Amino acid sequence: MNAIGRPLPRVEGAAKVTGAARYAGEFDQPGQAHAVIVSATVGLGRIAAIDVATAQTLPGVLAVISHLNAPKLAYSPHKGFIDPAHGERLHVFQDDQIRFFGQPVAVVIADTLDQAEHAAAAIHVDYAARTPELRIEGVETLPAGGSHASAYKARGDADAALSQAPVKVDAVYRIARENHNPMEPHATIAAWDGDRLHLWSKSQFVTNEQVEIAAVFGLPADHVHVTCPFIGGAFGTALRTWPHVTIAAIGARHVNRAVKLVLTRRQMFYTTGHRPRSMQRVALGAGTDGKLSAIVHEGTAETSRYEQFVEALTTITSYLYSCPNVRSSHGLAPTDTSTPTYMRAPGEASGVFAVECAMDELAGALNMDPVSLRLLNEPSIDEGENRPFSSRSLKDCIEQGAARFGWSRRDPRPRAMRDGRLLIGWGMATATYPAFHAPAGARACLHGNGPAEVEAAASDMGPGTYTSMTQVAADALGLPPEHVLFQLGRSDFPRTPPHGGSMTMASVGSAVQAACLAVRAKAVQAAIADARSPLFGAAAADIDAADGSLFVKSEPARRETYATIAARHGSIEAEATCSPDEDARKRFSMHSFGAVFTEVAVDPDLGIVRVRRAVGAYGCGRVINPRLARSQCTGGMVGGIGMALMEQTLLDPRDGRPVNASMADYLVPVNLDVNELDAIFVEEDDPHVNALGVKGVGEIALTGIAPAIANAVYHATGKRVRALPIRIEDLI
Ligand code: MOS
Repeated sequence: MNAIGRPLPRVEGAAKVTGAARYAGEFDQPGQAHAVIVSATVGLGRIAAIDVATAQTLPGVLAVISHLNAPKLAYSPHKGFIDPAHGERLHVFQDDQIRFFGQPVAVVIADTLDQAEHAAAAIHVDYAARTPELRIEGVETLPAGGSHASAYKARGDADAALSQAPVKVDAVYRIARENHNPMEPHATIAAWDGDRLHLWSKSQFVTNEQVEIAAVFGLPADHVHVTCPFIGGAFGTALRTWPHVTIAAIGARHVNRAVKLVLTRRQMFYTTGHRPRSMQRVALGAGTDGKLSAIVHEGTAETSRYEQFVEALTTITSYLYSCPNVRSSHGLAPTDTSTPTYMRAPGEASGVFAVECAMDELAGALNMDPVSLRLLNEPSIDEGENRPFSSRSLKDCIEQGAARFGWSRRDPRPRAMRDGRLLIGWGMATATYPAFHAPAGARACLHGNGPAEVEAAASDMGPGTYTSMTQVAADALGLPPEHVLFQLGRSDFPRTPPHGGSMTMASVGSAVQAACLAVRAKAVQAAIADARSPLFGAAAADIDAADGSLFVKSEPARRETYATIAARHGSIEAEATCSPDEDARKRFSMHSFGAVFTEVAVDPDLGIVRVRRAVGAYGCGRVINPRLARSQCTGGMVGGIGMALMEQTLLDPRDGRPVNASMADYLVPVNLDVNELDAIFVEEDDPHVNALGVKGVGEIALTGIAPAIANAVYHATGKRVRALPIRIEDLI
């Protein structure tokens, strides 16, 4: 029986619920000291003086490090896969400049965490402060350039078509800054052994952290070793290597002991990235029949003054619907804040929100059902790239999702549906996310006893990498999944791309499959060349594998287990790298699609919105593990409820301070906010994306849900709220 396609429970589930799984901050080292960062309390300017005299005399304090005594670090150029193409990363403790509120200005190292916290509180910093620029509207913006030159796209003449369109909508949509807020904070334990550095560090990209920290300290990459077997949620915040990792390593070298540094929840709002604030204009023109004739989509997102993180707001615009005249572009507003980063479908979640709310407004202007409007404008090819889709199941998603939700029972009039005194709204939106795939490696090893071992420098921030890779390996080897041990999260394992962009299944999965097929072929060769094997003399092409054995297809009685072969031959190992099929990627446009339907209940007196239920139907290629895929999608919907109704990081305009930097003040959905969530997958057989036929699941669920909720809120109340999160005060 194949392992792929089965709803296996998580292979690491028992380790997680029993506490056996160890997260970065739990790898306590002998003699370990503790670090606490002192964060800037102004938003721009310079450090005039630092008084550390008291702090240094407090019990247990080993060192206080600031720009006054920190080592000058190499900071050699390094741009990883996920680093902004333009600008330069923050250099910690290298000068007296303050670039944003919360920037690290000093670190205390002490014997205990309490001692370090106490001493950090005793440090007094004088600043020469200026007022930071925080505005993203009414300021000069930068084009998103460099590798993002494709930020400007056009076909036809969208502006002329818009002006002539008989029906049009034209509006601006805004999204607040959001912080990732995973349960596990960023944490690093750093330990030096001579000029070699070991980091136990929260990371979605251990091989990049290795190279990045090596560049910061001017070390050969193989002198840095990074370990991260488990991640307590990340959503993009652990893709980059942030300054605290460097600080932990500086501290450990300074006191010649292992040092543990765990960011506080407040510090998680300072230097670990965020979804940038954005504003987007979307204008749609259509004929009276509902056919789109013009799409204009212009976006601006915040970035920092020192780096250009590009929130790719308009990448979805050119392929989502059929339309002859389309113009889209996105730019950046530099502000005196820390650099934003990838967060939960970065770009797509925001862009889809604007376009799908505009589509809902257009449906209203046309007096047309929102589902019918989308089906009417379904393209037959990617009109932006002028090439076919490798597969596109949006129509199936809409139809199956609508049927499951009961959309046909919707009364189209706003404020028409009620439950007692509550206003009921039904809204829908399209979801989409690219099917990324990047080169990856994996290693597989068969032993005389014990499980087959498979390893890659991948991560599992929650989606189930451990389990899905076990399933892929099991099928490639012909082993039951319980006889496979998949390991990840070490920088000395074969390199993989970042655990982001929903590309882990396609990229690492393909490499795991290739490595397992390679080691299986080696086992076949070992057996057929060995007179002691029942397979001796058979042709390799005649051998198949199942249930842990190799056998001759025409004579199934001639068989031998991997264990027996490896016991006689010695352990058999193979490594493989797998790259995307670039030819197929040139010929086809590759994306996942979905349709999301939501029901909200709005209290007309109190303005409280509850999402009563949501149905998402997704076409994501092959689903390796339906239980985990469903869990990812419902988890993404929870994130979408937060994006739509709760999450916003508010900045004090005087100094850029994130004023609600705590879990008490930054709202996220809790159990009471999450009711019935349903995710289904439409059958999709995509022969072009990769050998496994997978497109990835993680992020598509973040797209579509927020606009489906906003559209449902409009349907319930008749109020069109174009800024996220939709707040109580918007509705009363
Ligand atoms: Mo995701 S924002 O690619 O971790």
